[in-house]
Amino acid sequence: MGRIVLENVTKSFGDAHVIPPLDLTIEDGEFTVFVGPSGCGKSTLLRLIAGLEETTSGRIVIDDADVTEVSPSKRGLAMVFQSYALYPHMTVRKNIAFPMRMAGVPESEQEERVMAAAKSLNLVDYLDRKPGQLSGGQRQRVAIGRAIVRDPTAFLFDEPLSNLDAALRVGMRLEISEMHERMKTTMIYVTHDQVEAMTMADKIVVLQAGVIEQVGTPLELYRTPRNKFVAGFIGSPKMNFITGEEAAHYGAETIGVRPEHIQVSADSGKWTGKVSVSEHLGSDTFFHIHDTGLADTITVRADGEVSFKHGDTIHLTPREDVVHKFDAAGLRIT
Ligand SMILES: Nc1ncnc2c1ncn2[C@@H]1O[C@H](COP(=O)(O)OP(=O)(O)OP(=O)(O)O)[C@@H](O)[C@H]1O
Ligand SMILES: [Mg+2]
Repeated sequence: MGRIVLENVTKSFGDAHVIPPLDLTIEDGEFTVFVGPSGCGKSTLLRLIAGLEETTSGRIVIDDADVTEVSPSKRGLAMVFQSYALYPHMTVRKNIAFPMRMAGVPESEQEERVMAAAKSLNLVDYLDRKPGQLSGGQRQRVAIGRAIVRDPTAFLFDEPLSNLDAALRVGMRLEISEMHERMKTTMIYVTHDQVEAMTMADKIVVLQAGVIEQVGTPLELYRTPRNKFVAGFIGSPKMNFITGEEAAHYGAETIGVRPEHIQVSADSGKWTGKVSVSEHLGSDTFFHIHDTGLADTITVRADGEVSFKHGDTIHLTPREDVVHKFDAAGLRIT
């Protein structure tokens, strides 16, 4: 089991109130992602759950037991950090076995669990190497292995992939998702990368300045963001926001249109502008469009075959069924 409940949890560092009263329930077996801009409190929240920080007030409950005052090692959670925090003088085998040695697990069982973890993480051939002889991705797998052998009630990951290059990140992202499918253990994963959040999560928690802006599945957040912040944070390239007269036609202070929901044409459309920059990704092309009279820049995601160049006139038509409307306070109008 691994159901985690935060009740009215707050955290201050001196006068800095980093987490105002916050409630959150993470169901057993769920893959939950905390996402939000730098400094919004993601790591603090994770460290509070782990017990590495003390709550200023409120309660943390794991599987019906109040653990607010319980030490980190007794909470049954395993944390994996961005910096792998491996022991450089120990072999991979010893690094993975370390928490079990501390807990006094018998040697034969240690060896068995190290082998099982090494097999599932493709580390069998590296067990006798030291961390310095491994790639970044292999080191992160060792850190995950060390978490797995503890058989925790939940895994807590704090930006585990941000030291890796782009290709490795994608590979490790899949490995962690597969690991979750196999083990069905509760996982909480912190990232500021909304693509990681969208692709990995059962449930995303979007944070801003310590406040939960929205909790939902990736598609709920994408389709029905409850405010402009979530709308702008989830989705890449970002949603376009348009105010003024055009928004007023829709009965809103602001409308939001995702780049992939705008059709482009050389001949006709609802809006007209000039192409400033074209970014060719091969599969898709992003056009950044000026002089629309709607916003400084409108970004459009078109098929990779579509071709416009700098200075071309371009006509745009939004898909009306997916235009988002927001009121003066930035809240979604339904
Ligand atoms: N020990 C501390 N003492 C004082 N302030 C702290 C401490 N730890 C964190 N903070 C502050 O709390 C806020 C939240 O920090 P936190 O590390 O949780 O952010 P984050 O969302 O993980 O950001 P990042 O994406 O950059 O890792 C920040 O304003 C930070 O400066
Ligand atoms: Mg952080």
